[in-house]
Amino acid sequence: MPTKLQKDIIILAIESSCDDTAAAVIKNGHILSNEVASQQIHELYGGVVPELASRAHQQNIVPVVSVALKNANIELNELSAIAFTKGPGLIGSLMVGSSFAKSLAQSLNIPLIGIHHMQAHILAHFIDEPNPNFPFLCLTVSGGHTQIAKMNGHFESEILGKTIDDAAGEAFDKAAKMLGLPYPGGPLVDKYAQLGNPDAFPFPQPQIPNLDYSFSGLKTSFLYFIQKQEKLNPNFIAENLNDLCASMQKTIIKHLLKKLVLASDQTGIKEIALAGGVSANSKLREMLVETGKIKNWNTYIPAFQYCTDNAAMIAMAANYKFILKDFEQLDTAPFARS
Ligand code: KG4
Ligand code: ZN
Repeated sequence: MPTKLQKDIIILAIESSCDDTAAAVIKNGHILSNEVASQQIHELYGGVVPELASRAHQQNIVPVVSVALKNANIELNELSAIAFTKGPGLIGSLMVGSSFAKSLAQSLNIPLIGIHHMQAHILAHFIDEPNPNFPFLCLTVSGGHTQIAKMNGHFESEILGKTIDDAAGEAFDKAAKMLGLPYPGGPLVDKYAQLGNPDAFPFPQPQIPNLDYSFSGLKTSFLYFIQKQEKLNPNFIAENLNDLCASMQKTIIKHLLKKLVLASDQTGIKEIALAGGVSANSKLREMLVETGKIKNWNTYIPAFQYCTDNAAMIAMAANYKFILKDFEQLDTAPFARS
């Protein structure tokens, strides 16, 4: 906490990398508000339509920021800095958030802070206690990324392994689409899987060397299996939905945890965290805790509201960058590579 002579650090953070328009306010490292407007329009198209996403961000951003400030009981003139997601993400979506953040920072004459979206997912672990101790391994699983990061410091990371094709969230969403479920299908697969038998349909485990992941072969074998079964029984999906979800989910989770165990064995690190949208998956959370007990790990799983895209994680990362005085120029490009 700052002393009486130090000013409070109050940051407004904006996240707009994909299809959620989110804003949060953080004061001296404590989240005061965390608001999100999710875009339903993409359900109609079975996936995020970039052009529609940026238009919806444009509509949502002012109301979402206003609610975040109101719920935090903070006035614009109290802000110390404006933070935004610099990438990776959809360029049109990122441009809405970054342009808004730049304009506000300039008009208030306060610093601008750019945050890497995947780093923010990991730093969500510092919002609530207990926090992982450095170095820790973080399995980061979202709709666009799947990686094992070794975190040596808040902004010092090494990627030990990553997917060579689809992300884990994509595997969930594509499997759901094949089952006729709406986008995003990950949470629905999770829901139906809770009523199914995970051993009903043994799908082949992806075989890929080192600490990398691959989900595209699994996706193809899932598709071929369904197509074959539907020829024999047109009601196959409807009659086996729960078992299909449970079996596919089990295969994805087994692949995720196998490489995480390997990473821990190879590095000797037993501080293990989970981050990103797929960390909301109930079975993955349960299996990580179970594996952690067997392997004697300290496991860290974020609260649900900090798993999928949110601005509180951007705010938390920005709080550390503010302390480091790591600011952006107003002419910065709204893009960070993955
Ligand atoms: O981190 P996130 O909100 O956005 C990206 O940065 O991509 O992750 C979204 C992904 C989607 O693929 C979504 O289906 C998946 O996370 N997801 C889940 C669950 N909740 C969200 N996947 C499986 N089970 C869930 N409960
Ligand atoms: Zn994300």
